[in-house]
Amino acid sequence: MKPVNVAVVGLGYWGPNLARNIVSCSSTELCCLCDYNINRLKKVGSSYQSVKKTTDIFEVISDESIEAVVIATPVDTHFELAKASLAAGKHVLLEKPMTRTVKQAEILIELAEKKNVTLTVGHTFNYTSAVRKIKEIILSGELGEILYWDSVRINLGLFQHDVNVVWDLAPHDLAMLDYILAHKPISVQTFGVAHFSDNIENIAYMILRFDNNMIAHFTFNWLAPVKIRMTIVGGSQKMLVFNDMEPSEKLKIYDKGVDVAATKDNIYKRLVQYRVGNMYAPQIDNIEALNTEIEHFAQVVRHKAKPISGAEEGLRVVKLLEAAEKSIKRKGKEIIL
Ligand SMILES: NC(=O)c1ccc[n+]([C@@H]2O[C@H](COP(=O)([O-])OP(=O)(O)OC[C@H]3O[C@@H](n4cnc5c(N)ncnc54)[C@H](O)[C@@H]3O)[C@@H](O)[C@H]2O)c1
Repeated sequence: MKPVNVAVVGLGYWGPNLARNIVSCSSTELCCLCDYNINRLKKVGSSYQSVKKTTDIFEVISDESIEAVVIATPVDTHFELAKASLAAGKHVLLEKPMTRTVKQAEILIELAEKKNVTLTVGHTFNYTSAVRKIKEIILSGELGEILYWDSVRINLGLFQHDVNVVWDLAPHDLAMLDYILAHKPISVQTFGVAHFSDNIENIAYMILRFDNNMIAHFTFNWLAPVKIRMTIVGGSQKMLVFNDMEPSEKLKIYDKGVDVAATKDNIYKRLVQYRVGNMYAPQIDNIEALNTEIEHFAQVVRHKAKPISGAEEGLRVVKLLEAAEKSIKRKGKEIIL
């Protein structure tokens, strides 16, 4: 397969990771680096001597040799940069969250369709072996009926000045949930508090309800003394714990739960029996998720395949983020989707 010629726009924290993986992937060729901050461009560019460098996005989109643009800039710039790239006929991998509004995401989807180019979103977790394994286990029915999803994503985080903790951290969990579960949420409720600025919440608690009685709860916090990245999925048969801070055995399946039966003489009294069985940790590989994501992007571009994290998936996440923001502003009101 002829490698896809790719430009990376935005060389702050995340962009250099994308550039490194584009170079190491045999299906892509890094052909341009762009950042409007000349210092960032020089610093990151020094590792890629032969690659074209520019501070101007228009030099990227007007260059006919560039087939695809990977955008790793702050979320408020995603829409304009992606729109310009798509309009110029470039394939786009846009970092998460896809856009700041649902309307913007819909405009980009329409434009990508019109131009017949690929638009994917950087839901990187969905390219990890752990998340793929969780999906496989849940789809196999091993956990039984999924009753709840509980996730904690906290640390002494980088306080962003353009978005709150939900827009910063929730895309990871919401994209995972969307990728793994066939059921989609019917409502969002979020409580948030801004301790240091008037309107940028640094702690938030989000609840998603589903029509099958499943519930999902998320804790997001930039003000925690320890870093926790943990998801628990409770099923009627077994339960799963995904601890992303573990260097190995990130995933553990517990044969634990309860069996509930009505007693003979009184159907209102229930007999609860606890099941405590074995635990096992499935084998998962340690391949860098970004490597898999970039290889997948190149395959999707060349073969016009359906992406794992395409624009529709990006839009569904933005819908949840927008609803969560609305809920926060209304002091935790439940927003029906
Ligand atoms: N997929 C993941 O796991 C993951 C992880 C971290 C960040 N991200 C996402 O990556 C994006 C960037 O995050 P970051 O932490 O690297 O931000 P950052 O602020 O560290 O870097 C952003 C860079 O973009 C540049 N930039 C801004 N506007 C530009 C423009 N119009 N043209 C050219 N360059 C421009 C800035 O100069 C800066 O160097 C965000 O959308 C973030 O959510 C994704």
